[in-house]
Amino acid sequence: MERLQKVIAHAGIASRRKAEQLISEGHVRVNGQVVKELGVKVGSNDKVEVDGIPIEREQPVYFLFYKPRGVLSAVSDDKGRKVVTDYFQQIEQRIYPVGRLDYETSGLLLLTNDGEFANLLMHPRNEIEKVYVAKVKGIPSKESLRSLQKGVRLEDGKTAPAKTKLLSMDKKKQTSIIELIIHEGKNRQVRRMFEAIGHNVLKLKRERYAALTLEGLSPGDGRELTAHEVKQLRTLANQGKK
Ligand code: URA
Repeated sequence: MERLQKVIAHAGIASRRKAEQLISEGHVRVNGQVVKELGVKVGSNDKVEVDGIPIEREQPVYFLFYKPRGVLSAVSDDKGRKVVTDYFQQIEQRIYPVGRLDYETSGLLLLTNDGEFANLLMHPRNEIEKVYVAKVKGIPSKESLRSLQKGVRLEDGKTAPAKTKLLSMDKKKQTSIIELIIHEGKNRQVRRMFEAIGHNVLKLKRERYAALTLEGLSPGDGRELTAHEVKQLRTLANQGKK
């Protein structure tokens, strides 16, 4: 048995606090009866509706996936391109990616059917560290890298301080490999940050997400997160929200 507000939040309909409000305001029915008290617990056979729409209840599942390049961070594509859930066809739960990596970006992506968890991790103020390795055109100067560290102005605002490390450079080919560590998740953020300092990204990979890495996985591989890893991510994201 689980608390009604938790069940609604897990379905991704609202945060737990908003779910409590929906209940108190009479938007929620259990087995056809409006329930306004917050303490009510429901089992897997109880039918829960929000504004008359039944909510989907599945066992929550959490996966880490090594997304290859050339795969869309989506559950379907009307142009017929490969999507990340194509790699999870044996999973009966309806999972979806937590945030996204660009079509051409490879690396670590989480998938779940737990809407509350996904919303928590995608909260803009969460403290989750993401480590990217980018191959860029040209060799950025120390000052350019310092401006990435301080934050660069993008069209949707200035980026928060980042960490950078020049991992290697190829003077002949005029390319370099740079590690960039950020906490935010603006759309195409890494590519736009490098563009802002005049170095286009040629290749991009997300190597780490909080403490999670791609260790032991090849592109296209996935594994289930352990209960401990899920708990750690929740704790981290909750810390950032305060
Ligand atoms: N930043 C980008 O530019 N692309 C990604 O896929 C992820 C972060």
